[in-house]
Amino acid sequence: MSLDQTIHSESDQTLFESISNDIIEKGYSIRPNALPSDLTHLLLQHIIELPTKDFKRAGIGRTKDHQVNDSIRTDEISWITNDSKANYAWLNWTDALQAYLNRHLYLGLFSFESHFSHYAKDDFYKKHKDAFKGEGNRVLSVVVYLNEHWSATDGGELVIYEKESSPSSGGDNSKITVTPSFGTLVFFLSEEFPHEVLPAKRDRYSIAGWFRLNNSIANNIDPPR
Ligand code: OGA
Ligand code: MN
Repeated sequence: MSLDQTIHSESDQTLFESISNDIIEKGYSIRPNALPSDLTHLLLQHIIELPTKDFKRAGIGRTKDHQVNDSIRTDEISWITNDSKANYAWLNWTDALQAYLNRHLYLGLFSFESHFSHYAKDDFYKKHKDAFKGEGNRVLSVVVYLNEHWSATDGGELVIYEKESSPSSGGDNSKITVTPSFGTLVFFLSEEFPHEVLPAKRDRYSIAGWFRLNNSIANNIDPPR
């Protein structure tokens, strides 16, 4: 699916430009109520209709040393494939954004992977990074929230820790707290920003995704996931 095959709205272009400028300036972008509303509704409808058997306890680490660890994260995930109208529309949107970012930021983004996440009451994901320096696979993280009428008492905030501060600043890292409200989009450079999900007080739905570099070398094929 290429950008050329799809007509994207003017407002997508404006949004892509804002995201791109934020990333250049700060390394992250937080855009409340930004994913097109029809797409957000389609994704919410799809996630609530997914059979529970499609959700698996999320693990940590990549394939070989993948393990479930209750003290780090307790959410359940379902990987997104191009098998439904909602998923197709989502992957089409991320594809268009990837093309835009490659033209304007030269990040060399090559592929995209994403999953639905369900945090039930009291579920959390402790402070972590999505990628580590030198591994160079996940470049840019994206999260979108699918929760209507989320209130301050519902918890489940995403906390992003700004880059390690210098000793002269007293070593205090500033925190950015994001309410997981319907249509809010979050992007950050995967290697730069540790982040965590605080315990949710009710069901919390999101999509987490990663734009990646092509890490396949010679006979060693490194596919997404
Ligand atoms: C993740 C993650 C954040 C969120 O899945 O790696 O950090 O707010 N998710 O759901
Ligand atoms: Mn993460």
